[in-house]
Amino acid sequence: MLLHIQNVLTAEQVAHCRGKLDAAGWADGRLTAGYQSAKAKNNLQLPDDHPVARELGALVLDGLQRSAMFMAGALPRRIFPPLFNCYREGQSFGYHVDNAVRYPRTGDDRSPVRTDLSATLFLSDPDEYDGGELTIEDTFGTHAVKLPAGDLILYPASSLHRVEPIVRGARVASFFWIQSLVRDDGERRLLFDLDVSIQSLNQQMADDPALVQLVGVYHNLLRRWTET
Ligand code: NI
Repeated sequence: MLLHIQNVLTAEQVAHCRGKLDAAGWADGRLTAGYQSAKAKNNLQLPDDHPVARELGALVLDGLQRSAMFMAGALPRRIFPPLFNCYREGQSFGYHVDNAVRYPRTGDDRSPVRTDLSATLFLSDPDEYDGGELTIEDTFGTHAVKLPAGDLILYPASSLHRVEPIVRGARVASFFWIQSLVRDDGERRLLFDLDVSIQSLNQQMADDPALVQLVGVYHNLLRRWTET
């Protein structure tokens, strides 16, 4: 499932991030790539232990926790500390699958994170650059994603994806991975669809006993499929 989540950051927060990132020193993105993906990767990245990455990462995590759609769609167990990258003219990242396991180098919990979901939070608006689409292949075909600054795309980390070459301007983004309470993408999708239906019915018939039963079904499925 591809999930577009709007307004994870406000326009003011995006401007704050951009100001800090522009002043920070970008490094070669290949530093954090796995052996295979390093060959395909050509971009700039903020070192994960850079104070600006830590500060803005906390801002991103706060935005995620405020997003009901993110929480319902990702059912996060752990979120990898957000990273930040920049693609300038001529830069791209060829087709790859993200590493299955990531080891955080910052934060209190440095135990491995299984990457069930990948996320890109756009920090440049689409009119700031040409090219730079995030192209994702899933079971329903190929999707080219370019979102307004402050919006996020959530997609299965198991999918093949690439960042198209930039032909004008620069694309700044935050990216990270999520280990979900529900490992299986199909089960997580069912829970999300059920949750959306329940929220909608809740507007119309909050006191209906059938809705109470449906909420029970949601939680009992979640209990069945959750791993902690
Ligand atoms: Ni990737």
